[in-house]
Amino acid sequence: MDKPSTTISDLKKKRRMNALISPTLHEIKFNEFVLFILEKKMGTTRRAFLMELARRKGFRVESELSDSVTHIVAENNSCSDVLEWLAGQNVGDSSRFELLDISWLTECMKVGKPVEAIGKHQLVMPRNNSPYPTVGSQNTPPLATKEVSQYACKRRTTLNNCNQKFTDAFEILAKNFEFRENEGICLAFMRAISVLKCLPFTIVRMRDIEGVPWLGEQVKSIIEEIIEDGESSRVKAVLNDERYKSFLLFTSIFGVGLKTSEKWYRQGFRTLDEVKADKSLKLTKMQKAGFLYHEDLVSCVAKEEADAVYLIVKEAVRAFLPEALVTLTGGFRRGKKIGHDVDFLISDPESGEDEQLLPNVIKLWEKQELLLYYDLVESTFEKTKLPSRKVDAMDHFQKCFLILKLHHQKVDSNRSKPPPESKTHEAKNWKAIRVDLVMCPIQQYAYALLGWTGSRQFERDLRRYATHEKKMMLDNHALYDKTKKIFLKAESEEDIFTHLGLDYIEPWERNA
Ligand code: CTP
Ligand code: MN
Ligand code: MN
Repeated sequence: MDKPSTTISDLKKKRRMNALISPTLHEIKFNEFVLFILEKKMGTTRRAFLMELARRKGFRVESELSDSVTHIVAENNSCSDVLEWLAGQNVGDSSRFELLDISWLTECMKVGKPVEAIGKHQLVMPRNNSPYPTVGSQNTPPLATKEVSQYACKRRTTLNNCNQKFTDAFEILAKNFEFRENEGICLAFMRAISVLKCLPFTIVRMRDIEGVPWLGEQVKSIIEEIIEDGESSRVKAVLNDERYKSFLLFTSIFGVGLKTSEKWYRQGFRTLDEVKADKSLKLTKMQKAGFLYHEDLVSCVAKEEADAVYLIVKEAVRAFLPEALVTLTGGFRRGKKIGHDVDFLISDPESGEDEQLLPNVIKLWEKQELLLYYDLVESTFEKTKLPSRKVDAMDHFQKCFLILKLHHQKVDSNRSKPPPESKTHEAKNWKAIRVDLVMCPIQQYAYALLGWTGSRQFERDLRRYATHEKKMMLDNHALYDKTKKIFLKAESEEDIFTHLGLDYIEPWERNA
């Protein structure tokens, strides 16, 4: 392949030529390259955008495949794709062109000057039968996207999210559709978020997500916009949207959901201060607590605080049932370092079931002045009932949603240290923490544990998988095989995965 010349006299000559051939509004700074950007599979708009961007940065970019072109930049094209296209262009020997992937140009744009084209940037013919073009010396497929399952329960999703830039954007869009009660689009974005979280690489070009499930046209166009501009105009618009902003504030109050937010918004409220100022508003007991402890509750729970709450819960439970299992579930079991609450599953292998435990624990905490709010929900479980068909159905366990007073001195950590002693002696020395306690019979423990560990998207897909792939019904209580007409017993989460024919996914890999 002809290497472009770089001697000074050549450069000068080229510069003079450039001035003649491609009159441009931008000064050409890098004469050693004459670029041509391939429109095929890229589209006119993106091509025009990239041409303009590269010219602005001082690159010489030709609109036509002229004789002076040295480098061809392509996106979503393999080497053979480009060669095939070149064959139809009547340009003679096409080996004189250096064929580069868009990732090269993207890197150049980032640093504002040409970067060395190395293996990973070069489009070369594969040496094997791989369906993918050989990527430089690594000889790896661009990405193993063909293997990404449509089911979150068949993917391993750790907290190491390489695509947070994209998932953050989609979280905002999903929330906006949730606020507008457009469940379909909301779910579409949630699925996209979930699948993006499992990718072991950062998306830098559209080709990276070829074959990844749940990425529809809408999602793709936003990803493309973020790749190109670093941000999405739709997300920006949502962040400025009055309804979105108000709903975000309203739903941050414990006990306020979409219905209440809608009502307040229609009544003309836009901020929490406006809501608080209206003394005629009827608030539920839950909402009153929500306002009272709002500041604490919106500042997330740290892992150290969750561990401190665990000790308090365990001590209280064991005071009544010394053999009881107390398990931290929810996000913290998945390895999260922060959460919006702390979730626990409680079960007693001795008694099997004890309806008095939660009421007793509540009484104890009331006496100890640790209880700021509680709502005890009695069990509605019937043994004969089949698992719920709905993927988002509530379970039937006895449970308690509460707000606990966590004294700073109970938190064993330097990181979440208490605020410095203030001058007044009534300084608050505790933090209000949301806690969920779930009591389950020991026979259902594995199902309850799997159900309460989450993530929500992981749970949804477990149920969807059971229904559509296995003709089984799964919920937080049981797994029912519709073909054999039997309930499948499980002593551990592993048993449940085995029943479903799934590889075991560890809790920290369920952050879908
Ligand atoms: N869950 C459930 N039934 C409910 C509430 C929750 O089965 N009524 C399950 C959900 O699958 C969820 C898990 O319990 O994944 C924990 O719920 P939640 O505390 O809301 O979410 P986390 O994943 O713990 O996230 P966060 O850190 O925000 O608390
Ligand atoms: Mn939680
Ligand atoms: Mn919870």
